[in-house]
Amino acid sequence: MKKTLLALLLSFPLISQGADLANGERINRSCSLCHGIYGQGASGRLSPRLAGMPVEYLIKATKDYLNGTRNNPLMVSTTGLDKMSDQDIEDVATYLSSLDFSYDDRFDIVQRFGGSEENGKEVFDDECDTCHAKDGSGKPDKDAPPLRSQHSEYLFQSMKMFQTQGRIHDNDPEDDTFTEYTDQEIIDITAFLASLDNSRFVAGKRFVPPRPAMLAAKRPEKPVKQHGLQITDITQTVAQMALKAGVSKEDAIQAMLSKAVELNLKLVGRQDVSKELESRGVETPFLSIFQFCNPMDARLMVISNPIFSSYMPCRISLVEDQKGELQLMMLNLDMLINSELLPGEVLDTAIRVNQSMLDIMMAGATGEF
Ligand code: HEC
Ligand code: HEC
Repeated sequence: MKKTLLALLLSFPLISQGADLANGERINRSCSLCHGIYGQGASGRLSPRLAGMPVEYLIKATKDYLNGTRNNPLMVSTTGLDKMSDQDIEDVATYLSSLDFSYDDRFDIVQRFGGSEENGKEVFDDECDTCHAKDGSGKPDKDAPPLRSQHSEYLFQSMKMFQTQGRIHDNDPEDDTFTEYTDQEIIDITAFLASLDNSRFVAGKRFVPPRPAMLAAKRPEKPVKQHGLQITDITQTVAQMALKAGVSKEDAIQAMLSKAVELNLKLVGRQDVSKELESRGVETPFLSIFQFCNPMDARLMVISNPIFSSYMPCRISLVEDQKGELQLMMLNLDMLINSELLPGEVLDTAIRVNQSMLDIMMAGATGEF
């Protein structure tokens, strides 16, 4: 804790003069289902790590999604980014930038693709380090972000997008850095970058959530803005999303079931609770509960520790609130993901399952699949 606090205190005057970290932390709840509570990102699902990245880059990147320079409509619509003020964006960027879990080996970057570190280093030293720095930590004066401590899949995808003009590299539409690289060379670069990251981690230190005590102590709770996706309570146990205007119950259910099939999650149970009560003549708000499971994932988790069976199967409920509005709700596995309980070998599974459940919930909320 000491180390985190010290790092935060030291970085405050430099990066966050005008930022409201408590507001940033609050907004981050809507980011956390894809980027993780600690901005750790998710390997495999192309959601980048944001923790510890430079504020200026985070602000610029976030605004690029809003002005169409970069493309991720789902991220914008589920977080209500388009309704946030510049101050909100600065607040959440500053909060994310202040997070540091570099000493926690559970969030280590895994070199998944293989690839040749050596070849990657050669390319990097020839072509990249002038802007991204020798150790991959980026150069603010060139607007070049750090590339180490970033998930290999995300880096790979970004470079492929630069290559196919799906994203602009170096803020220069004419940039041709990646035109000539083969996929193998790009993989080699990610292998080299992953090696930089690993050398930075100190294994075996206990993870302390990077949450400065002063945040909790000082600020009165402001009501959370009603953006699209909400995590309803302070312990972040539940993620909730209202159905978009025009999406009926039937649309939502159809979209969720189709999405689940696409993601290879089996519908293993469905309880139409309100329907059953109504058939007995009892008046009740609408409630249906859907249960999903992938048996292979369940197996892996239970082999690791039988207690995980208590989280199974994953559920999403469709429920009518006090105002008569329909809400989708699910347990936020991110809590489990960030707990001390989860050993490395099941961390990825938990992240993937959480994201699949979120995808199903989002399909339901938007009626799109
Ligand atoms: C629905 C999932 C989702 C949510 C919720 C989400 N993001 Fe993202 N975010 C992504 C994905 C996927 C990418 C990578 C997209 C790409 O390749 O450009 C991304 C990329 C980013 C990047 C670019 C990082 C880089 O290295 O260039 C920033 C910054 C970012 N998100 C900020 C946020 C913030 C702030 C929030 C909360 C207000 C948020 N995101 C919520 C999925 C999400
Ligand atoms: C002339 C400076 C320059 C050079 C040389 C350069 N980059 Fe970049 N790079 C940038 C800038 C600036 C950005 C940020 C673009 C943005 O804001 O979207 C960037 C972004 C990236 C990203 C996306 C990171 C993220 O978090 O989304 C990757 C990956 C990347 N560069 C890889 C490389 C590699 C690999 C090389 C060498 C082959 C390289 N770059 C050479 C300036 C450079």
